[in-house]
Amino acid sequence: MKLSIIGSGYVGLVTGTCFAEVGHHVTCIDNNKEKIKQLREGHIPIYEPGLEDLIKSNVANGRLKFTDSIKEGVDDSEVVFIAVPTPPQPDGSVDLTYIEGVAREIAGVLTGYRIIVDKSTVPVKTGEKVAETIARYNKAKADFDVVSNPEFLREGCAVADLMNPDRVVIGVKGERPVATMKKIYEPFHAPIYITDINSAELIKHAANSFLALKISYINAVAAICEASGANVDEVADGMGADKRIGRAFLNAGLGYGGSCFPKDIKAFINISEQLGSPFNLLKEVEHINEQQIDRFMKKIRDKLWVLKEKNIGVLGLAFKGDTDDCRSSVAIALCKRLVAEGAKVRAYDPQGMEKAKNEISGIEICSSAEDVFNGAEAIVVATEWKEFRALPWGSLKDKMVTPLVFDGRNLLDVKTLRGFGYTYFGVGR
Ligand code: NAD
Ligand code: UGA
Repeated sequence: MKLSIIGSGYVGLVTGTCFAEVGHHVTCIDNNKEKIKQLREGHIPIYEPGLEDLIKSNVANGRLKFTDSIKEGVDDSEVVFIAVPTPPQPDGSVDLTYIEGVAREIAGVLTGYRIIVDKSTVPVKTGEKVAETIARYNKAKADFDVVSNPEFLREGCAVADLMNPDRVVIGVKGERPVATMKKIYEPFHAPIYITDINSAELIKHAANSFLALKISYINAVAAICEASGANVDEVADGMGADKRIGRAFLNAGLGYGGSCFPKDIKAFINISEQLGSPFNLLKEVEHINEQQIDRFMKKIRDKLWVLKEKNIGVLGLAFKGDTDDCRSSVAIALCKRLVAEGAKVRAYDPQGMEKAKNEISGIEICSSAEDVFNGAEAIVVATEWKEFRALPWGSLKDKMVTPLVFDGRNLLDVKTLRGFGYTYFGVGR
């Protein structure tokens, strides 16, 4: 099928590439001309395992192309996906100006029937507004359907998530777009849930909020573990073995960050209040998440006492492992807190160093993970990169002034670290 995707970021670019990989003909559109130029020249603007090879092979076989023209994309496709940002406003509500702007742009170039699919994460009832906007601005009075098709990929494993989705949610008004939408997703062999548009939009916010709730739940349990001498890893394993609970998203640590959970939980709280059914449980989810960094800073302070002039090595800047995305990264927030207390922060991230420079100044960026240990009075693990676990911790200890490790992601093996002579602090273990 011929598809186009407006917005070639983490969602649009990876989705477009995976659609091409299963045989569709895809035009990825972005209004960032520099990004399109780079993509056409073969430079991939984000780090996502497996993505570069897939883009190159699908460009080579002619199924994937890039443009900055919405008209070109819409003219050349049966289905138009929208994957533009939906950032938060100061009051937590969603800034829908990108969505509204794209709806008007589509309306301006629509001449014949198209299915317009929203893939961005949007408040319930946005689909209705998109349909109204397109109808209002479309002078040609062309026929169209609006569909909600929320995306559930995780950064760092986006290609794998897209190629093997747990489910595909398709929210429609009427039967007309259903067969086409099913055909697009047929090659992915995933269960397809056809719902009304409002329900599809709600599924996305409800799912993200529930995952964040699991993280805050285990972080609150971790605090009780610390107070009682229990071990949160063992508690999570024991809880998670119950299939009704599941072990995933029960990893205690510094809390959730990134461009999605923090904004989506705020959005869902705001939406619930707007609809007159305040979801106060989610306020506690947020509160626990915010406390994680305070509790961790206290742990560091309790041991190092005064942080001013102390050399602290930080492993990780990205918001999670296997990505270069540093937007709303808890690792960056932690570095800022350390710097604010006068510490000298030296940090390293396997992929996030360039993007980290947009988010933070006043820290030294090291050329390798090993370099972070030089002269450090403590090492902080802030992002769950697997390669940090594989470092030669035994020999690196000798580069440090005092062998203290604060593991904010419970990434390291406690016994091994203590065996090497480190004083180790994790979260709830
Ligand atoms: P992103 O910032 O990585 O990419 C968005 C892209 O849209 C950018 O390249 C931007 O230049 C482009 N854009 C903005 N306005 C445009 C316009 N008028 N015309 C053409 N292009 C335009 O954002 P993202 O992370 O891909 O997120 C997009 C949406 O998907 C958000 O609603 C987000 O909540 C949701 N989402 C994100 C993820 C994720 O893991 N990142 C997962 C699921 C859902
Ligand atoms: C999350 C969801 O997992 C995706 O399903 C969703 O599509 C996406 O948001 C979105 O809507 O944008 P993502 O933010 O890419 O994906 O990454 P996650 O793996 O969910 O991690 C989010 C944060 O939670 C990270 O900071 C991570 O370190 C933290 N986390 C995750 C924990 O602290 N503990 C865990 O057990 C899991």
